[in-house]
Amino acid sequence: MAFTYFFRDLQTLEAIRDFVLPDLKTKQYIDIWDAGCAMGQEPYSLSMLLNESMGHMYFRNLRILATDIDESNRFEEIIAKASYPEDLIQRIPKGIFSRHFTSGDEVGYYQLNEEIRKSVTFKKHDLLTLIPPESGFGLIMCKNVLLHFNDDQRLNVIKMFHDALAEGGFLALEQTQKLPLEAKHLFEPIVSNAQVFKKI
Ligand SMILES: C[S@@+](CC[C@H](N)C(=O)[O-])C[C@H]1O[C@@H](n2cnc3c(N)ncnc32)[C@H](O)[C@@H]1O
Repeated sequence: MAFTYFFRDLQTLEAIRDFVLPDLKTKQYIDIWDAGCAMGQEPYSLSMLLNESMGHMYFRNLRILATDIDESNRFEEIIAKASYPEDLIQRIPKGIFSRHFTSGDEVGYYQLNEEIRKSVTFKKHDLLTLIPPESGFGLIMCKNVLLHFNDDQRLNVIKMFHDALAEGGFLALEQTQKLPLEAKHLFEPIVSNAQVFKKI
């Protein structure tokens, strides 16, 4: 269930960087919720990509809340340490890797630098409680999670995302996850090549 990798679905990450970030940068804080974050590959990929296109002052104001049901009870420790074995970091573009990783304590492990680590906080959270961990997010990203839910659960979770977003906030789903018909009035698409929407 927690299958993932760094820089998965680069097209969506780039759509966020190019079409969502300019809007988010006008706010004092950039609050992002990554729901179903697995062991940190997704929120850290987003953080690195945004770091590359934001000045240090802006980046200091980026906060990514990464949540997962985490049945293993191990994600908090793994994400806080952000030290990953060689086979997990293969897909990170070379320039980005060299700017943000250093050799870890253990042989064959590489650790993300503190600046990126500090931008992500993990919290254990079950989406099906339908109670968001916080509200007022500028962006909610939830990829490759909703496909495991039934139609009612999916719709209710998307409505919860709508409530948890700030006015004009954004929602990003995976490429193959279309918005259910019953939720189309809640969001407008902002790009044609990714499932990225703006709250109406
Ligand atoms: C396939 S991974 C997706 C990881 C990442 N978002 C991606 O797209 O690569 C699915 C994640 O959803 C989490 N998950 C499954 N059911 C959940 C629930 N009810 N609430 C929160 N997370 C859940 C799993 O623990 C797993 O880490």
